[in-house]
Amino acid sequence: MHGAALPAWVALAYLVAGVFFILALRGLSSPESSRRGNRFGIAGMAIALVTTLLHYYPTRAEDFPIEWHAPIDWNTLWLIGGAIAIGAVIGLTTARRIAMTAMPQLVAAFHSLVGLAAVLVAAAAYLNPDAFGIAADGVINPVSRIEMGLGAAIGAITFSGSVIAFLKLNGNMSGKPILLPARHVINLGVIALILGLIAYFTTDQSPFVFWTVAGLSFLIGFLLIIPIGGADMPVVVSMLNSYSGWAAAAMGFTLQNSAMIITGALVGSSGAILSYIMCRAMNRSFLSVIAGGFGGDAAVAGGAGAAIDRPYKRGSAEDAAFLMKQAEQVIIVPGYGMAVAQAQHALREMGDLLKKEGVSVKYAIHPVAGRMPGHMNVLLAEANVPYDEVFELEDINSEFARSDVAFVIGANDVTNPAAKTDKSSPIYGMPVLDVEKAKTVLFIKRSMGGAGYAGVDNELFYRDNTMMLLADAKKMVEEIVKSLG
Ligand code: TAP
Repeated sequence: MHGAALPAWVALAYLVAGVFFILALRGLSSPESSRRGNRFGIAGMAIALVTTLLHYYPTRAEDFPIEWHAPIDWNTLWLIGGAIAIGAVIGLTTARRIAMTAMPQLVAAFHSLVGLAAVLVAAAAYLNPDAFGIAADGVINPVSRIEMGLGAAIGAITFSGSVIAFLKLNGNMSGKPILLPARHVINLGVIALILGLIAYFTTDQSPFVFWTVAGLSFLIGFLLIIPIGGADMPVVVSMLNSYSGWAAAAMGFTLQNSAMIITGALVGSSGAILSYIMCRAMNRSFLSVIAGGFGGDAAVAGGAGAAIDRPYKRGSAEDAAFLMKQAEQVIIVPGYGMAVAQAQHALREMGDLLKKEGVSVKYAIHPVAGRMPGHMNVLLAEANVPYDEVFELEDINSEFARSDVAFVIGANDVTNPAAKTDKSSPIYGMPVLDVEKAKTVLFIKRSMGGAGYAGVDNELFYRDNTMMLLADAKKMVEEIVKSLG
């Protein structure tokens, strides 16, 4: 297969699949078109899968006007079909059962599988190169050796890195960074060794070299992700997503599969762009995220406990309803707590009632509110909040000063003014929503003791123009709805 050009119909079908994938990415760039984007992605993947199966396993030569490659091998066909069926069942059940709040770790878990698949494909090609058409008399051609070396290395890094990201996000491992002494030197040394071995692999295809590359890459995946704190995990997950794409693209070259090269490159570049966008939203440089350490002990230890005794104003659902009814404009700021409480439907109801009272209602979304990119947008869309009421940080921040009420529901870090003023704060430099500029700030959270993701206290809770609504977000909003009705 290697070296021989793809039959024209296969190349064309892969190209069509590639176009569908690009349309999918385009669709996913906005909540309005995301469902359509998803459908394009499914269609592209179906075309790619069916084409690959037909190309390599025509049932009878004369039934298909395509090039003959291999004798029919029903055993293999059943194995492939069985594997697809098992995978589909696992995928479907997981997708149906998974809680929205557990999505980041699910994504990390899935990336680990993509990485593992790349390693396995590289290993299969290495162990049986003649079957892949990349060797003459068992001698693998040097270009393929580089491709499989890179595929195995990136795949292994993706695998072990994603496993650590999963364990940290799922709470099985502390979210705190684990900082080894001299870690930068160790990491750079191991990376240099891996690259050196891949170069050496072109002159010596011995199993020792191949498996050492794979083993060291597994190790560096762990070492690279362990020092990264929980708060930076979303960037890491999207970076690993990007790696898994590059690993697939590298293997696409070995397998001479243009669909894999196109898809891998799309995943690789979109993951890299998303990492960059998130870093910008948190005002962190990509390099400092990768170098690790943010979200560490200082942040978590400095939590809300220290300030628990400070005086604050507490209000009831009736107070909140009364204040908002009088308002001209209310800006709702959702955060992670809204997702935990699943309060989005009640919230939409509250917005509808306020609009009936003639109040202008807007939603302000911080780019890293919640626990994954687009988290709040997805939940609000699920509750049918109109898209034209939902605004990004930079489009709405200037409006708080002109608003009567900022209604903060389960958000904390993304409103914390310490990010603007306190150089020692772990969130210093992150752009935040200027909720304190509204005449009144209503804050829903369950208790004064609970801190946000970064583990720091929020000085806004104690301000004169703040009223704390201490309860589960869904319960509180339902009560406000009752008072408004
Ligand atoms: P957080 O700062 O995590 O604050 C969540 C708030 O919700 C807390 O004040 C918590 O207080 C409250 N809460 C939790 N459950 C609740 C419930 N059932 N009812 C009412 N309130 C509840 O959230 P945020 O403002 O959305 O900020 C996001 C943070 O996560 C940022 O630090 C960001 O960097 C980080 N992060 C973001 C992402 C992405 S990409 N979005 C991914 C990982 C991490 P109580 O416990 O007192 O209720």
